Amino acid sequence: MKDFIPEGKIIEIRERANILEVISDFVSLKKAGKNYLGLCPFHSERTPSFTVNEEKGIFHCFGCGAGGNVFNFLMRVNSLNFPEAVKELAKRYGITLPTRELSEAEKARRSLKAQLFEINEIAAEYYHRLLIAQKEGEEGRRYLSQRGISKEVIHDHRLGFAPASWDSLCHFLQNKGIPLNQAERLGLILPRKEGRKPGEKSGFYDRFRRRVIFPIINVGGTICGFGGRIVDDGAASGSPASPKYMNSPESPVYSKGQTLYGLNVALGPIREQGAALIVEGYMDLLSLNREGIRNVVASLGTALTSAQVSLVGRYTREAVLIFDADESGQKATQRSLELFLQEGIAVRVASLPTGFDPDSFVRQEKKKGFEQVLAKALPLIDYLLEQALRRHPTGTVEGKVRAVRDLLPALNRLRDPLEQTLYVERVAGRLGLKESQIRPRLVTKQAPAAEPVEKSQRISRGPVHERLILQLMLLHSQVIPVVEEAVGKDAFSDPRHKKLAGEIVRFWETKQKMDVQEFFAQVGDEELKDLTSELLLTEESVIDADRMLRDCLKQVKLFQVRQEIQHVDEEIRHRSQQGKEGVTSAFGIKELLKRKQRLLLEQKKWIDDAAGRFQPNADS
Ligand code: UTP
Ligand code: MN
Repeated sequence: MKDFIPEGKIIEIRERANILEVISDFVSLKKAGKNYLGLCPFHSERTPSFTVNEEKGIFHCFGCGAGGNVFNFLMRVNSLNFPEAVKELAKRYGITLPTRELSEAEKARRSLKAQLFEINEIAAEYYHRLLIAQKEGEEGRRYLSQRGISKEVIHDHRLGFAPASWDSLCHFLQNKGIPLNQAERLGLILPRKEGRKPGEKSGFYDRFRRRVIFPIINVGGTICGFGGRIVDDGAASGSPASPKYMNSPESPVYSKGQTLYGLNVALGPIREQGAALIVEGYMDLLSLNREGIRNVVASLGTALTSAQVSLVGRYTREAVLIFDADESGQKATQRSLELFLQEGIAVRVASLPTGFDPDSFVRQEKKKGFEQVLAKALPLIDYLLEQALRRHPTGTVEGKVRAVRDLLPALNRLRDPLEQTLYVERVAGRLGLKESQIRPRLVTKQAPAAEPVEKSQRISRGPVHERLILQLMLLHSQVIPVVEEAVGKDAFSDPRHKKLAGEIVRFWETKQKMDVQEFFAQVGDEELKDLTSELLLTEESVIDADRMLRDCLKQVKLFQVRQEIQHVDEEIRHRSQQGKEGVTSAFGIKELLKRKQRLLLEQKKWIDDAAGRFQPNADS
């Protein structure tokens, strides 16, 4: 890795990259004191504990413990390795990296995922060039323009066109030296049943033929897969051999239900508007974009999955679902609605007039008409209530019972007790029931236990003075040799602390300085990285580092003495127990008591010594 990108370049990129800017692409951040706070992209949470410090160039999540610098963030969020993260930032900040041909060994070392992403990228570019600039793309251009899709939208979503040929992509990839078996793993090409014919270059054929191509791009801008729509509705619609839409199969970089189409483009607008619109299809999203409605993502025909809902939840707390008017899949819809409640996202449902989908509606009624539909969107429970009233004749006992039964799962999922009470009232009112007739059927909340315990509360933090020493070591390198000399590794009772101290000392010994950012680049262990970012973001303000260190070292001594006293106490208890049981004599107890006496004196000395500046019991 290191030999591939020169160290100087890495430093240049790190200095140029603004961590706040980079993270803001993924997380909506709000200023809170010296730091910025947002919802962690690495675990699901409702109250922000993801912290970014611009000045220090680090992030840390106090919920799940993830932390590091700008490179570490990109590595985690986009599953990249270090050089890939460096390259991505270089690209973003216009820093040119020295290029050279990769050696065979280097090629082999690069991760499979990175290779697959690159092949997708090459294919997307191929389809895109074809659509926008080449003769074979004419049919695609005509189709999209007839559906009202503009050049800007084509550009934003990198739409493309796959020509009618059986092997043009195969040839293209082959000429680029791409291993075709990798392209096959992506489902871009398929092996010919009859095998390789004599005189033929490859034994593969193209999956996407004569289709408009929609690259499915993740938030980081990498392409996971593709969708393709047939351009000739008459010829093949409905035929199972040639369905209207065809999508990439599952691959190491694509799994259905994990991504949302268009999120890469919608990210900014979702943040600006504080809400996401969710539609079903590619064309729905593109038409809305065309009309200037840009905070839209598409679920791609499936019922929303919990992965998709929590993906939305990373960027906004408000969503609006826009469905076709037809009744199909309403049960599935209902289930996906419950996912929003689970994630704590406020969701509303907008209904279009019969016979319309978002695409056809917005093309006819334009932005204004669409906004009116949005304004009339019903909050989830109200929507479900309307549905229930429509499905069941509530004039009858049977109908009322059924309607209540339909609504209970959603009512049970409301987290806010006030909200729940108000909705129970409303439902009762609409069904002509008393509130007290519904309430007993709700599952009683298991009070606070229902809220998952955040990881940080589970991680024991270790003695405070140890954390302080580590903070001093990270930020005031002059203390490192002092710590080494005075107490060595024995200063740390917590194994994680001991390990980190060891790394710091090793770094300092080779570099003769401490640079937090460089340190991050060197530490391989994720856990230590996380601990480092946490320490840096919870750092106390230090006025006199040397003095603070002296105090901490006293605490170390005190802590060690206390531990020893505890140990001696246990030993005394153990031996006197044995003595009572007649197993052995109480031999040695006297010596132990003497030793304890000495230790107590020593403890007193340290307490007196440390008094005034430090709380003697600050070590728990
Ligand atoms: P629709 O059948 O509602 O199509 O499928 P649409 O979006 O209105 O498409 P147009 O307007 O005819 O072009 C909605 C979504 O379901 C998925 C696609 O993601 C599509 O956008 N789908 C549909 C498939 O994956 N395969 C299919 O054969 C059909
Ligand atoms: Mn449509």
